[in-house]
Amino acid sequence: MGMLTLDKLPKKVLEKLDLQTVFMVSRVVVAAEKLQIFRKLHGKQLTAAQIGRMLGIHRQKREVFLGSLVAVGLLKKKGDLYFNSALAEKYFVRERSIYWTRLYSDQCITEYERFSVLEKMLATGKNYGSIVGKKNVGYLDVIAKNRTWACDFTHMLYYHHLPEARALAKKLNLRGYRSLLDVGGGSGVMSIALARKYPHLKACVLDMKTVTPVTRKIVRREGLSKQITTTVGDLNRDLPDGYDVMMFCDVDIADYRKTFKTAYDRLPAGGLIVVVEELASEDYTEPLLRMMWQLRTQGCLLRTRKEIADIVKACGFKSVKGSFLCRDSWMITGRKPT
Ligand SMILES: C[S@@+](CC[C@H](N)C(=O)[O-])C[C@H]1O[C@@H](n2cnc3c(N)ncnc32)[C@H](O)[C@@H]1O
Repeated sequence: MGMLTLDKLPKKVLEKLDLQTVFMVSRVVVAAEKLQIFRKLHGKQLTAAQIGRMLGIHRQKREVFLGSLVAVGLLKKKGDLYFNSALAEKYFVRERSIYWTRLYSDQCITEYERFSVLEKMLATGKNYGSIVGKKNVGYLDVIAKNRTWACDFTHMLYYHHLPEARALAKKLNLRGYRSLLDVGGGSGVMSIALARKYPHLKACVLDMKTVTPVTRKIVRREGLSKQITTTVGDLNRDLPDGYDVMMFCDVDIADYRKTFKTAYDRLPAGGLIVVVEELASEDYTEPLLRMMWQLRTQGCLLRTRKEIADIVKACGFKSVKGSFLCRDSWMITGRKPT
């Protein structure tokens, strides 16, 4: 799935964007996405009044709001009529699933709120919730309680992680292995790519009870129900045995040492651990987006490649290797000695 990064904007738009005020443009685009304006304009040409009525935009704001989207290059205007530009069609309609449209703008708005107290977070080391006196509700709390949200989130991640899944299937050699546990496997996107590459492989996606029904639906759609099953579990408590590969892709691990040691204990001799994550460079200057998240989080979320490799080694795994997958994601593997 392609994201509309700034490099895709015309130079004449970029020239007007100042790094300190560009957040306003970004916020207007987030509002447009939240209103699903590009989806609703798909194949249509409408006046400001018609769009205003359709989306519930006040008459005092609608021309300037729509005009801003024209100025950024996401809408076009001909006479009184507005319609999607090629950029909006590509990145907000064709390349984006409805799950992404429904969820991502809300997540962006949450980030805006959090970053509004950045100076206080910097001064105190606290996170947004502690500063404004709000309970910190993490995405896992929402997944656990809200099935609709869990469904949108899991579908969204399927599309988001397709490039990593394809890169993983190219890089990871599973010829000598039979059964894989995809811990916190979500949509099963990684297992799906590996099952296609290795038809002899059986995979099982372990996740929360609100997620696994969605996983099964996606696996069925991909025609892989015979090769990929699901199980409900909590990776921070224990892991089942009976698998010769344990894989952790972009998973929230409370205590890496404890979880990787459990994986070591549950794997047979010769078993493989695979960790896929966006990992920081040793000098802690990338990846950019993860560093931003780290700024608004209490405690340490971002690990370096060496840190993860060292934990894998400390748990007893040998032949520990790291390799680049794609975007900001790395793969660390290790083998339990025979
Ligand atoms: C960011 S998603 C990644 C999903 C998948 N591995 C991928 O790469 O697309 C993290 C997943 O881990 C699951 N998860 C988080 N904590 C978990 C826990 N304690 N036990 C089981 N699953 C968990 C979430 O429900 C979610 O599906």
